[in-house]
Amino acid sequence: MTEAGQFIQSEIRARGPMPFSRFMQLALYHPQFGYYRRGKQIFGREGDFYTAAQLQPVFGRLLAQAISQCHAPAQPDGRVIVADWGAGQSDLRESLAGFDYRAVDVDRDETPERFRGIVLANELIDALPVDVARREGGVWRESRVAAKGDGFVWCDGPNLEGEWLDYAERAACQAMWDSAAAIIELPVGLRSCIEHIDRKLERGWIVLFDYGYTSRELMRFPQGTLLAYRRHQAYDDVLADPSGSDITAHVPFDELRRQARVLGWNELRFETMGRFLLRAGEADQFNKALAASTEAASARLRLQLKSLLFDIGEMFRAVVWEKV
Ligand SMILES: C[S@@+](CC[C@H](N)C(=O)[O-])C[C@H]1O[C@@H](n2cnc3c(N)ncnc32)[C@H](O)[C@@H]1O
Repeated sequence: MTEAGQFIQSEIRARGPMPFSRFMQLALYHPQFGYYRRGKQIFGREGDFYTAAQLQPVFGRLLAQAISQCHAPAQPDGRVIVADWGAGQSDLRESLAGFDYRAVDVDRDETPERFRGIVLANELIDALPVDVARREGGVWRESRVAAKGDGFVWCDGPNLEGEWLDYAERAACQAMWDSAAAIIELPVGLRSCIEHIDRKLERGWIVLFDYGYTSRELMRFPQGTLLAYRRHQAYDDVLADPSGSDITAHVPFDELRRQARVLGWNELRFETMGRFLLRAGEADQFNKALAASTEAASARLRLQLKSLLFDIGEMFRAVVWEKV
């Protein structure tokens, strides 16, 4: 078993079954053993998954154009801070060198205490810990993680109540699920993450890219959306390999947008990532994004653009807010 697995086992033995958000927190972010903290190659071809941020330079060039077009407020020294929130391996640093690029992740924060500028977040929210709830016989109960042998199994936790019961009931109703069994993730880590951004960003823009569902699209996921990724394959069994694979949950966009409204962020766009990037590049007919010195490089960049506009571009959403 992985070291993270052993750590989780000993915590369960001492305290009993744990909420899935605790399992996910330890599996991904334990300071020594967590998937994102072990220093292993996880992004790109030799890793477990690609994100748009590895489609360099085209993704970074289009973002640079989008940022220039939005005239974000600058710091008193005239520079525009671009805070890459959930920066991972900071793939955007080079393409955004024309701005004051700052990386933020669980183990680092290059931004000042409070700043004006832009927060960019690519695939941040899908990596935040979630709890899991299951409805059976009309009753919503939390699903927790228990130890079995040297592995892990789901077990019933307490009945949902309060805010999260309301959330699950509302979601099930909007998804038009009948009374059949259903599983839903509860985004328990979302509020503290966006409140953290809100505390640090005095004024400016927040631009977020991720995959997920609106309330109506939730209909398609009656068994929930949790997935583990390893070597470019997706697995349903998210308990099988703590810290050996990534674990993600689709983003509940309407809940994210509701929480952003509560913070007073003014939503400007909610659209596909492809549409957002198309607008950024069409001003100069993609000349900057596709500038290359050889025919081979040019072909590679065109492939990147196609993927960003039409493949992942259609699967991912962009949400843009202004904070004044
Ligand atoms: C799927 S990776 C995306 C990395 C990068 N943005 C990219 O597109 O390649 C998610 C990243 O979010 C980071 N992360 C998770 N929770 C965070 C939090 N609360 N604040 C900042 N970063 C966080 C993870 O450590 C990880 O680097």
